[in-house]
Amino acid sequence: MIRFDYQNLLSNPNLLSAIKASRLVDYADRVKDAIAEIDADRRAGILGFYELPEYDVQHILDFVDRIDDRFENMVVLGIGGSALGNKALYSALKTEAGLKRKVYVYDNVDPVYLYEILNDIDLDRTIFNVISKSGTTAETMAAFLIITKILKDKYPSNYQKHLVITTDKEKGFLRQVIQQEGIASFIVPDNVGGRFSVLTDVGLLSSAFAGIDIKALLAGAKAMREQSENADIMLNPPYINGLLHYLYMREGKNISVMMPYSNSLYDLADWYRQLWAESLGKRYDLRGREIYVGQTPVKALGTTDQHSQIQLYTQGPNDKVVTFISVEKFKHDYEIPNLYPDRAEVSYLGGKKLSELLAAERLATEIALCKAGRPNANLIFNEINAHNLGEMIMMYQIQTVFTGKLLKINPLDQPGVEAGKIATYALMGKKGYENQLAEIQDYIQRHR
Ligand code: PA5
Repeated sequence: MIRFDYQNLLSNPNLLSAIKASRLVDYADRVKDAIAEIDADRRAGILGFYELPEYDVQHILDFVDRIDDRFENMVVLGIGGSALGNKALYSALKTEAGLKRKVYVYDNVDPVYLYEILNDIDLDRTIFNVISKSGTTAETMAAFLIITKILKDKYPSNYQKHLVITTDKEKGFLRQVIQQEGIASFIVPDNVGGRFSVLTDVGLLSSAFAGIDIKALLAGAKAMREQSENADIMLNPPYINGLLHYLYMREGKNISVMMPYSNSLYDLADWYRQLWAESLGKRYDLRGREIYVGQTPVKALGTTDQHSQIQLYTQGPNDKVVTFISVEKFKHDYEIPNLYPDRAEVSYLGGKKLSELLAAERLATEIALCKAGRPNANLIFNEINAHNLGEMIMMYQIQTVFTGKLLKINPLDQPGVEAGKIATYALMGKKGYENQLAEIQDYIQRHR
């Protein structure tokens, strides 16, 4: 179970300068319109992620069951929405759920990073999971080509055993490779965008491989979807959080900090960063007017970043909304020994648990932010488990679409990302991009 405490996003005795609850009423019509638009999109089948709690995952479980025991690693080759969810789930649960198999995610084209992964794994015991919805992304294709060559050289007659491809069910280069070379495959549904796809085969296969309870993940997502149907917005975590973030954006709070007090959840903040940034950072509204909206998501780690960022968050520009993530019960904990009972410098710590210190530090930071008039919220995990992660994922996906509706933008596209992809194709000499290359060469000449 997760709980969302947003009392410090609303004006209260500790934080008078926050948004007043009475103001929310003014947005009742806007909220109603946004909800109606979401309902219409759902009926039109555009928002496929909403229906994923009912997704039949048996094919994934069967596939994982059939995998030979010798395979102990899965390396995901993907980027953006085809990578970040895998990372977030694995790092959240690898220790908390005591996962036996390892998941690596190569989501860059940094050669040293690839070298490190290859150096760490035993190829004989590794499956590579190439994930690309479009089947064309340069970074993923480069990794796919390098790895497939390595596998073909080492296992000429059965390299396919070490490869899985997750892509569109019909279209694209990777789908052709699957068909021509007999490689096991999974699907990225048409109506689920990359950054909303963690609860499809994209994130579920590596999770199931590692040993994560993927049915519990979906059950958590379902529980949150049900909460999001609550007509009382104050009891509806994704809607109230979306509305408050929207209102803060309008007040110039253009930075959204997600600060887990848990190393295991740090990558979840990275997943959130993409979701919030790519979905809401838009130049045009739905009517084509230039509006330049968005809120820059920042990730911070408690307590580590208290000694790096909190000075700025409490005394720098008042342009941030901070969301803490706290965990009530960790899988492992340590008691701090009272080694020097006569020394006031450290004796106060003696007998306390590390988790107690962590919780105290989070609360201290919350109080410091309130004193400085900085809005903040707390998302509380009673523990880190698959169900709770499913809840959190669904909460933020719904919140993102809802906030996009309030902003009157399209939260599902990413024209700015596409532009970068096209420029990369041109620079790397891909056929069909000659005009773009000429444009880039002209740009380079003018800047010399
Ligand atoms: O959210 C998105 O759509 C993007 O971040 C994509 O996931 C990313 O660009 C990778 O695309 P693809 O899966 O087509 O390789």
